Amino acid sequence: MRTITLIQGDGIGPEITEAVVKVIDAAGCDIDWDLQTAGADVIEKEGTPLPERVLDSVRKNGAALKSPVTTPIGKGFRSVNVALRKELDLYANLRPCCNIPSVKTRYDNVDIVVVRENTEDLYAGVEEKIDDNTAHSIKIITRQASERIAEFAFEYALKNNRKQVSAVTKANICKLSDGLFLDAARSVAEKYPQIQYREILVDNCCMQLVQNPCQFDVLLLPNLYGDIVSDLTAGLIGGLGVAQGANIGKNCAVFEPVHGSAPDIAGQNKANPTAIILSAVEMLNYIGETKKGLIIKNALFNTFRQGICTADLGGTYSCTAFTDAVIKNLQE
Ligand code: NAI
Repeated sequence: MRTITLIQGDGIGPEITEAVVKVIDAAGCDIDWDLQTAGADVIEKEGTPLPERVLDSVRKNGAALKSPVTTPIGKGFRSVNVALRKELDLYANLRPCCNIPSVKTRYDNVDIVVVRENTEDLYAGVEEKIDDNTAHSIKIITRQASERIAEFAFEYALKNNRKQVSAVTKANICKLSDGLFLDAARSVAEKYPQIQYREILVDNCCMQLVQNPCQFDVLLLPNLYGDIVSDLTAGLIGGLGVAQGANIGKNCAVFEPVHGSAPDIAGQNKANPTAIILSAVEMLNYIGETKKGLIIKNALFNTFRQGICTADLGGTYSCTAFTDAVIKNLQE
């Protein structure tokens, strides 16, 4: 029996968490869930949206499955998601983006992996109000973090039989910060002559992704561009409902969908649980349960092949009905 931290989140979090736990249990995975809560709901009781017990649990268990947590916009507490990644030094944000069978999209052969630096850049939260009409946000880029994420991207490419890594920056404008990121990527690329190394500016990259996404393989980006570009790549394969993600550090990892808490559909049984199910498959791979992971992935993909899908993909199935269909396919 393996204990895994389960962070339930808010918005659609509880609905998709219930779905993924049902699927994992139905697949016969021997997992004991250590349920942890975070976000606005715990502030009143514990004085912080990210209590130390959550961090301790992930450190102890080595892996967590997490659903989204709302971050107040423009005011209020700092992002729990950003803090979790920073506190646990989950420096690599891995977002594979691959077509899902039977989900109609503009392009058929999208198979891109976004590798996003997860600990610095504008997410360092160094902001200063100068006066009522001026605010500064500091973009922090270090050689150490840039080299570490570049190493991760090239090692990932090597281990997963990928051919190309593209470093994506705005180094023509942010000459010092993005220039440093690029310099680190170049020096790491030299150690991997078997992987093609390419550089592209983020604005051109977005245009190319929309026009001809199949030219890209692994994308290596600083934090902010990685956040934005991975939503774009999610759009190429059917949207946020199907986009999986993982935050990986040296000693532990947190698996979570790319999407947020979707307040517009929360509590309506409309959420697509695919993104968190695929994130859970990666978590199972991470803890060595690859067979179970593959069984779940096959059942999920067979569900799509049967034309079963939720409203975000044009279907009529609710979150629970879709989940039941996946479980039925597990048993066949
Ligand atoms: P969002 O990803 O929650 O929603 C964007 C759109 O996609 C909405 O129309 C939503 O209904 C749809 N959507 C997202 N996930 C879906 C799913 N599983 N099934 C069907 N439709 C889905 O992005 P938004 O609205 O910008 O953010 C809402 C909140 O989530 C914010 O507070 C944000 O800070 C937080 N957030 C949390 C993340 C995390 O916990 N890792 C990541 C991104 C955002």
